[in-house]
Amino acid sequence: MTVKTVHTAQVQALLEKIAGFDQEGGNQRTKVLIHRIMKDVFQIIEDLDVTPEEFWSAVYYINELGQNGEAGLLAPGLGMDHYLDIRMDTADAEAGLSGGTPRTIEGPLYVAGAPLSEGFARMDDGTQDGETLIITGLVTDEAGQPLADAVVDIWHADLKGAYSYFDQSQSEYNLRRRIKTDAEGRYTAQSIIPSGYGCPSEGSTQKLLNQLGRHGRRPAHIHYFISKPGYRHLTTQINLAGDEYTFDDFAFATRDELVVEGKRIEDPVLAKQYGLSQPFTRMEFNIQLLATDNPNQQQPHERKRALLTQ
Ligand code: DHB
Ligand code: FE
Repeated sequence: MTVKTVHTAQVQALLEKIAGFDQEGGNQRTKVLIHRIMKDVFQIIEDLDVTPEEFWSAVYYINELGQNGEAGLLAPGLGMDHYLDIRMDTADAEAGLSGGTPRTIEGPLYVAGAPLSEGFARMDDGTQDGETLIITGLVTDEAGQPLADAVVDIWHADLKGAYSYFDQSQSEYNLRRRIKTDAEGRYTAQSIIPSGYGCPSEGSTQKLLNQLGRHGRRPAHIHYFISKPGYRHLTTQINLAGDEYTFDDFAFATRDELVVEGKRIEDPVLAKQYGLSQPFTRMEFNIQLLATDNPNQQQPHERKRALLTQ
């Protein structure tokens, strides 16, 4: 079918009515967005000759996606979170802002309010028998001056690739901690090396990825929020070197500067420095924050996030 109708006065008038342009009430920004989105949807249907069967399967797919609570998982799988990062990186470059540790996506699995400690935290609850991980680093400003009292908020998956709170079998705030940097600007966490993440195999996200011939896997990774008054909030993560998916992440979060290699430490003297009696893996991730006076840039972007209430 090569029928063309989007350009007709009838369809253009329909689009204006759909968007409420002839109504006083409502929200102007929403009207502009919906007008453009529906115009583009109509155009896609026309250009790609979308059949009614295809259209209705998309409608019911969206229903199912919402019922499964997976919209926040599909978005990064379709590159949207990474695209927002590309836009922010480009805006920074155009504003002459460079330097600092690169940002990368938050993902849908943050939980606010993790326990806060000074300098050091043990993140795992000791119930899983993973390789012990010591992860440490310095938080500095652009000039390399250490920043004390920066809050390093870290979260990562367990050996099953699952996150506490979303995986109710884990203890509260397992593998989630906030650590304030010490007077030397250093944070240190003891944890277990996480496994990579896989989208639920029977879920809506994986169902669509299957249609694209794509996997739904992320490499083993560790998320960070880093903040300190007077500095830009940084949302980032490290992707562990040597994982099959380090450079093949379904959520497009890997950046070369954020790939971190673990070092196996077998020397009992070094283990003892961390109060450990067994070999462990050490990783280092130093973070550089950029100064800003803008209070909006000192916080993470607003979005709905989980918060545990005690
Ligand atoms: C996604 C991100 C994550 O960090 C994760 O652990 C799982 C999924 C995501 O972007 O969809
Ligand atoms: Fe994650």
